[in-house]
Amino acid sequence: MDLPRRTWLAAVAAAVFLAGAVSAEDDYQGLPPGEGRDEVFGLCGACHSMMLVTQQGLSRPTWEEVLVLMVEEQEMAELDPEDEKLVLDYLEKFYGPDRLARRMAR
Ligand code: HEC
Repeated sequence: MDLPRRTWLAAVAAAVFLAGAVSAEDDYQGLPPGEGRDEVFGLCGACHSMMLVTQQGLSRPTWEEVLVLMVEEQEMAELDPEDEKLVLDYLEKFYGPDRLARRMAR
């Protein structure tokens, strides 16, 4: 009776692992994988849905203004320079103006 029990346990372990992998992807609310994703998700998702971020297509200077706005008007804690760079790099890369232009052209 040893083998079936081990097989069953392996199946359960595989199912748990797969469920974890799938929900880990969902947990980012659609943010594409990339350097800075954890920071954006953790820092910006603390207050609001990622939708507010992912529906934008902004230039880097405008993203910088958004961060200032978050601090000045929405009580976000100022990001330390390393996080700010990661966040801006990520936002510029995935949510820059060309993205919006592409979407609007459709
Ligand atoms: C301390 C809370 C807090 C944090 C942290 C925060 N925000 Fe916000 N943010 C808000 C609030 C509150 C609003 C207004 C929400 C609304 O209009 O429903 C908002 C709105 C926004 C908007 C929409 C602005 C508009 O003009 O409609 C953007 C874009 C945004 N946030 C980006 C970010 C990004 C990027 C980060 C991470 C660097 C971030 N936020 C972190 C509180 C926060």
